[in-house]
This record gives sequence, C-alpha cells and structure tokens, in this order.
Amino acid sequence: MGSSSNRLYFGDNLSVLSEQQLKRYKYEADNSTYKAENLTAPRYSPTRTVEWRRVYPGAHRQWRFSIDELERLYAEGCILLRRDGLPRKDGLQEYLFEADAPALQDIWTDVGFGRTSDERLGFQTQKPEALLERVINASSNEGDVGLDPFCGCGTAVAVAERLNRSWIGIDITHLAVSLMRGRRLARRRRIQGSTATSTSLTTARARRSGSSCRSRAGTSTAA
Ligand SMILES: C[S@@+](CC[C@H](N)C(=O)[O-])C[C@H]1O[C@@H](n2cnc3c(N)ncnc32)[C@H](O)[C@@H]1O
Repeated sequence: MGSSSNRLYFGDNLSVLSEQQLKRYKYEADNSTYKAENLTAPRYSPTRTVEWRRVYPGAHRQWRFSIDELERLYAEGCILLRRDGLPRKDGLQEYLFEADAPALQDIWTDVGFGRTSDERLGFQTQKPEALLERVINASSNEGDVGLDPFCGCGTAVAVAERLNRSWIGIDITHLAVSLMRGRRLARRRRIQGSTATSTSLTTARARRSGSSCRSRAGTSTAA
C-alpha cells in the first residue's frame, strides 16, 4: 500500500483524477463543481474558423466543435456567456461529476498512511482510513449497516460511523475492543472540540503493552 496522496477519487468512488486535474474544477453552480474549457483550438479550418453567434475564434484558430455541435451545447446551457451575453471562447462548462476519469484498477497505491501518521494506533495490522473510506463509499449508502467480524483496532467501524453508517464490529481480543472504545471516544471528543483527545488513545496504547501488537513503529478538431 503506497502512501502517495497525489491521486484522489470522487463521484462513483471507482474512478480517479489527479490533484492537478481536480484543481481545474474551481467554479461552483447549483452545488456542483465545474471547470471552463477552451472552445477553440489552433489552426485555420475553412469550416470552423468562422464567426459563430457573433464571436470569431481567431485568425489562426478554429472552433473545437462543428457549428451544429456548438449550437447543441449552447441550447443545453453548456457554454458560459460573457457579461454582454455573447459566448465565451473559454466557456465550455464541464462538471466534475461528468468527468471521464479512468476506472480504478485492482491495485490501489494512492491510499495509505505514513509511518508517523497521527492515525496510527500501533496496531500491527491497522488499515488506513482512506482505504476503508473508499470501500465503504463504493459499497454502501448512508444509513446502511456494515459488519466487520475481524475488526482489529476498528478502522472499518470508525470510518463507517464517520460516513453515517451503522456498524457491527466483532473481535476476539480485549485489546481490539479497548482500542475501538478509545478511538470512538477520541472522535467524540474531537467533534466536541475537546483537547483531551490524545489521552484516551494513550490509555488504549498503554493497555495493550505486553500484547502481541508491536509498539508504534512503524475533442475533435478539423484539419
Ligand atoms: C487483520 S486484523 C484486522 C485489522 C483491522 N482491519 C484494522 O484496521 O485494525 C484481524 C483481527 O481479527 C481478530 N480475530 C481473529 N480471529 C477471530 C475470531 N475467531 N473472532 C473474532 N475476531 C478474530 C484478531 O484479533 C485481529 O484483531
């Protein structure tokens, strides 16, 4: 599991865009994020280097789409307008939820946590919350119930709670149960803005000393 965080998931949780790609979605409309793309492309074209709705793409530029397609996009409200009501040449509105992102593969290297991450409880087989977040988001809805019958220090349980799922966590060891208790308590205190967060985790860590868990180690254009 890698610790790189330069790729993020969104939407259906099974596709990814790079942070750089995501940064371009900087506008908001109707509670949705969008980016504004260029409607023109380099090079002259006899059919596309033409005025459209009183806007000219430029002497050595062309519209990226046919005039029919531009009209369709315009009619569907996908083209941003200037203050004077004319189409913006950089006004192709593309929403994040419609983005054509590559599907996630079955090896995930973009979710992890570092050796010194605050998330670490010292539990040997602890999984990163980002991993469970992706799994839970991809496989359930708010209000659903998640079951982790081997829940260890309770990562699945903690994330399920944060994502408004109900949960059932089972573990055979007292250590796991106490770590989970500490984790939930810490979260509740964090939510309440308390500064006492670390105490419960420290207590939980102290309780597990001597156990088997190791200590904190680790478009197309026309020619
Ligand atoms: C790989 S760990 C789970 C780690 C967890 N995903 C996390 O993030 O902390 C597996 C857990 O299964 C528990 N376990 C093993 N056998 C069990 C059993 N028969 N019933 C319940 N829990 C069991 C162990 O105590 C251990 O905490």
